[in-house]
Amino acid sequence: MPYTLGIDVSTTATKALLMDARADIVAVAAHGYAFDTPRPLWSEQDPALWWEATVKSLRQVLQEAGVTPREIQGIGLTGQMHGLVLLDAAGEVLRPAILWNDQRTGPQCQAIRARVGPGELIRITGNDAQTGFTAPKVLWVREHEPERFRRIHRILLPKDYIRYRLTGIFATDKAGAGGTLLLDLEARDWSPSVLAALEIPSDWLPRTHEGPEVTGQLTPEAAQATGLRPGIPVVAGGGDQAAQAVGVGAVEEGIVALTLGTSGVVFATVDRPVYDPAGRVHAFPHAVPGKWHLMGVMLSAGGSLRWYRDTLAPGQPYPQLLAPAEAVPPGSEGLLFLPYLTGERTPHSDPLARGAFVGLTVRHTQPHMTRAVLEGVAFGLKDGFALMQEAGLGPVHQVRISGGGARSPLWRQILADVLATELATVHTTEGAAYGAALLAGVGVGFWPDVATACRQGIRLTGTTAPRPEHVEGYRLLYTLYRDLYPALRPTFHALPTG
Ligand code: XUL
Repeated sequence: MPYTLGIDVSTTATKALLMDARADIVAVAAHGYAFDTPRPLWSEQDPALWWEATVKSLRQVLQEAGVTPREIQGIGLTGQMHGLVLLDAAGEVLRPAILWNDQRTGPQCQAIRARVGPGELIRITGNDAQTGFTAPKVLWVREHEPERFRRIHRILLPKDYIRYRLTGIFATDKAGAGGTLLLDLEARDWSPSVLAALEIPSDWLPRTHEGPEVTGQLTPEAAQATGLRPGIPVVAGGGDQAAQAVGVGAVEEGIVALTLGTSGVVFATVDRPVYDPAGRVHAFPHAVPGKWHLMGVMLSAGGSLRWYRDTLAPGQPYPQLLAPAEAVPPGSEGLLFLPYLTGERTPHSDPLARGAFVGLTVRHTQPHMTRAVLEGVAFGLKDGFALMQEAGLGPVHQVRISGGGARSPLWRQILADVLATELATVHTTEGAAYGAALLAGVGVGFWPDVATACRQGIRLTGTTAPRPEHVEGYRLLYTLYRDLYPALRPTFHALPTG
């Protein structure tokens, strides 16, 4: 039986997933690690951790599945987006990677807008400068670590560092490349004018490839380290959100992927390179050749619920915490929650945005607060939908929901009611790693294209329909929710951060 592997280099662990040629998942292994916050707003990780975890996960998954290295036909890569890995001329890592959730580059984002021209930046790349993106991090290193900057020979994204360790090749996928802010969205390749304006040499950048394209082969050294055979093709794969969309089958217009993890992501495939002229949603190439996608990223979705549980109901299992909130009427009797606990990206790109409960009275109990958290996150995700629609997204037929939060029937129902759309769940929660394995399957010829792979592999397991009697009430409440951020912004910006 031929197999492919999907490797997901995430912020918390690297996972290896083994899939057979029927698109069934055979085994999964993951090894975790932490990230460092050496200063407020900073978030860094040593790339050596990813390589160690990759090696361990690959060895473990092969051992558990009992397959021989000969049977592995291809490898697909996915992982955390936007991170900056710097290599010197000898291929050595120059400093810890600066991750997607690092917020140090506010001034550099301003500098990028000024250098390229704010309208021009969005017109070319489809995106405004975000603190988490790669390009402002390069400028930060130039300003703050000139010694290191002088030694830069290559710029890579996290999963592409693992590609380099596996194949010796410098390459990336077009979806991930979009997240650097250096890509021409329509051309699906590096933008010479943005690179020139930012004075970033183009030979620092890896070659860009479509998701299923083969980028290189496993080297004998990597084969020795991982227990695989030399020569296995490694396909481009995709940034974690694009691969996640492949892993739930959101690969054509009309199907939206909603991922409710620590962050909350709404991801919609589009056939043309559309974008929001104000840059409030992300617009990147998809991991599907010839397709693009729009994306709203809310930083604390499941993260809001986790904070709430850990702070106000420590140790309580989620089902126990959520059960009493079912009896609270929709709208939590006039209690609203603003989920900007770690600042926000979509719809308000603002590292200083804060969370809030608004409307508390003595009548409100803890279950009201629990429900308000679930509803506030749903409203935040609706913001992402609204902006994608303003940017040119056509009709949405189905929303495929995944991530830890999708396990709660109550949260699914609230989301269906707030978004006024049917939600569907799929048979696997392996998301991005599964998407990467499917892309590898297309790359080595198991299927002619990504849509066929998804049709073969992904099964719907359930749907949640909106309840018409609650849709209108939520629509009204949403208008009140929308007024909160502009009203509270001056307060958020004036509050001490210490
Ligand atoms: C996407 C994003 C996150 C990271 C980490 O824009 O920032 O999904 O890729 O998972």
